[in-house]
Amino acid sequence: MSTEDKETDDAEAVDFGFKRVAAEAKAGLVRGVFERVARRYDVMNDVMSGGIHRVWKREMVEWLRPTPAMTIVDVAGGTGDIAFRIRDRLGADGGGHIVVCDASQNMVEAGRDRAYDRGILKGIEWLVGDAERLPFKARSFDAYTIAFGIRNLTRIEAALGEAARVLGPGGRFLCLEFSPDVMPGLDKLYDLYSFAVIPMMGAAIAKDAGSYRYLVESIRRFPHPERFAGMIRDAGFAGVSYRRLSGGIAALHSAYRV
Ligand SMILES: C[S@@+](CC[C@H](N)C(=O)[O-])C[C@H]1O[C@@H](n2cnc3c(N)ncnc32)[C@H](O)[C@@H]1O
Repeated sequence: MSTEDKETDDAEAVDFGFKRVAAEAKAGLVRGVFERVARRYDVMNDVMSGGIHRVWKREMVEWLRPTPAMTIVDVAGGTGDIAFRIRDRLGADGGGHIVVCDASQNMVEAGRDRAYDRGILKGIEWLVGDAERLPFKARSFDAYTIAFGIRNLTRIEAALGEAARVLGPGGRFLCLEFSPDVMPGLDKLYDLYSFAVIPMMGAAIAKDAGSYRYLVESIRRFPHPERFAGMIRDAGFAGVSYRRLSGGIAALHSAYRV
């Protein structure tokens, strides 16, 4: 079924990009986007962002400062970019246990294949699971990371609650996400690029303009950094702070489980 078929005016509806869809339909639609683009996801990231996503991800892992004693879950971890960076930072035999948890089977498989290609056979565990209902016991992790995942969720508050539940006291929360709060001057150019160029690239490279139109639209629907910081606090975190990246195109939020 297409996304057009599922559009609704229902009061219970939620955003799916600029469309409104029934809350119970959104997760399936989002999963469909990533199931379709999984094998082209990494190349599209590099092409769309001119490689800048790598700089942002490096900043995230540097801010995390992982240590070998840590157990880390990377939620919506997709094809493993954050997990690989954490592992690279720790060194191949540097310890640390990383779990990648993502709702899309195809994304997880693409990530696992990348791990094999890199000769990474231990230290990273790959799981299909929902950020809003994580398949882990309370207090299982020292750190929770989520990069470009949270804006795709139906209930962001539920996912933040799950982050708080699976972290132990003092556990670290880090979220990297696009932000709608782009600095004046850059914003017009960024809009033009996002709405005109990215779907065209999506059509040419991933053979899927619609999925990339959704990605662009979903960024505009995500809360501004200050409001998102408040949502993180409401979920039971303290020491909430954030950094704006590349003129506000992305934001990196950090917090600690109370
Ligand atoms: C834009 S990708 C980000 C992947 C990776 N973190 C990165 O930065 O390259 C978003 C990911 O969120 C995943 N996702 C969407 N909804 C999810 C959910 N409810 N629970 C877990 N993962 C979800 C998608 O399958 C996709 O892999």
